[in-house]
Amino acid sequence: MEHISTYNFLTFLLLFVVFNVVKGQPLVPALFIFGDSVVDAGNNNNLYTIVKSNFPPYGRDFNNQMPTGRFCNGKLAADFTAENLGFTTYPPAYLNLQEKGKNLLNGANFASGASGYFDPTAKLYHAISLEQQLEHYKECQNILVGVAGKSNASSIISGAIYLVSAGSSDFVQNYYINPLLYKVFTADQFSDILMQHYTIFIQNLYALGARKIGVTTLPPLGCLPAAITLFGSHSNECVDRLNNDALNFNTKLNTTSQNLQKELSNLTLAVLDIYQPLHDLVTKPTENGFYEARKACCGTGLIETSILCNKDSIGTCANATEYVFWDGFHPSEAANKVLADDLLISGISLIS
Ligand SMILES: *[C@@H]1O[C@H](CO)[C@@H](O)[C@H](O)[C@H]1NC(C)=O
Ligand SMILES: *[C@@H]1O[C@H](CO)[C@@H](O)[C@H](O)[C@H]1NC(C)=O
Ligand SMILES: *[C@@H]1O[C@H](CO)[C@@H](O)[C@H](O)[C@H]1NC(C)=O
Ligand SMILES: *[C@@H]1O[C@H](CO)[C@@H](O)[C@H](O)[C@H]1NC(C)=O
Repeated sequence: MEHISTYNFLTFLLLFVVFNVVKGQPLVPALFIFGDSVVDAGNNNNLYTIVKSNFPPYGRDFNNQMPTGRFCNGKLAADFTAENLGFTTYPPAYLNLQEKGKNLLNGANFASGASGYFDPTAKLYHAISLEQQLEHYKECQNILVGVAGKSNASSIISGAIYLVSAGSSDFVQNYYINPLLYKVFTADQFSDILMQHYTIFIQNLYALGARKIGVTTLPPLGCLPAAITLFGSHSNECVDRLNNDALNFNTKLNTTSQNLQKELSNLTLAVLDIYQPLHDLVTKPTENGFYEARKACCGTGLIETSILCNKDSIGTCANATEYVFWDGFHPSEAANKVLADDLLISGISLIS
């Protein structure tokens, strides 16, 4: 076996994955999603919040050019992940469903833009905290028992993949702009606070039956177009301070996750790195088929997101496929495709 390299082993696993997906059989029964705007598929649409994206030009490259509440021109990395797992539909935004029943059998999306590990972040923007997202998931479990029976529901719950993606809003939409936080805590201390909340969240999700959890790292926060504009002191380069904070958080996330996996039996908890792949796209765009990484497509591309990215924004690009970022904070569909392919590789332990 020694001559079989890790690389070949991964290739083998990927072929196995692709083969099974081609047969039209999803690799896991369901996909449940928690977190912030990186994965929100429209849960904020009917909330009293400014953090929304259910209007053009959001969604202009999505099915039927539909703005759904995804913070993107098209698909999120989570959507590509659902496709990679063999699903033919995306987990629906739980709060947008008129009826809740069989449509939850393949999973659901509970994420909310501007939410985070730190509950006050969600409160600040009237978004749904992770704690509330878990309450919605509990309600969803009861519905599953109703439509599939206790035994089937329990195999869906234990066999499902749970994707968790949060922390960006805690830093960019709270810590960095909130003197009550940045004057009191260093970024390192704030990361420790987030880790305490993360630990409790994972323990609670596990207690509800989750056994396969994938958690994304922070992206290179200092390379987000709006972050360069706001914190970059007139340079167009990524902001080192923010990137270092993200890397430090990611190291803690990795250690904390390894400890949780030891503590909670039968749990697979994979850390899915989006820092490095997104950093590569930003610093070496042309090698990856992109040509614009400083400016986002929407508006001036320097700052706009949510309600500031709208059909009247001046300067929106005609075609986002060569842009790494769609708006000031969020990757384009084309970049999300690249990120999702990396997620599949770093999350292989969840499906093998
Ligand atoms: C449980 O799943 C089995 C196999 O998929 C199916 O035949 C059965 O009808 C399901 N039970 C309920 C109560 O839906
Ligand atoms: C872990 O898995 C084994 C084998 O499936 C099972 O017997 C045991 O009850 C599980 N433990 C927990 C805490 O889920
Ligand atoms: C997490 O730690 C492991 C082993 O210490 C390392 O191989 C891996 O690259 C780390 N992952 C991230 C996302 O930092
Ligand atoms: C955008 O450009 C790509 C090639 O760069 C092309 O394949 C695609 O059709 C274009 N999309 C639109 C909406 O024009």
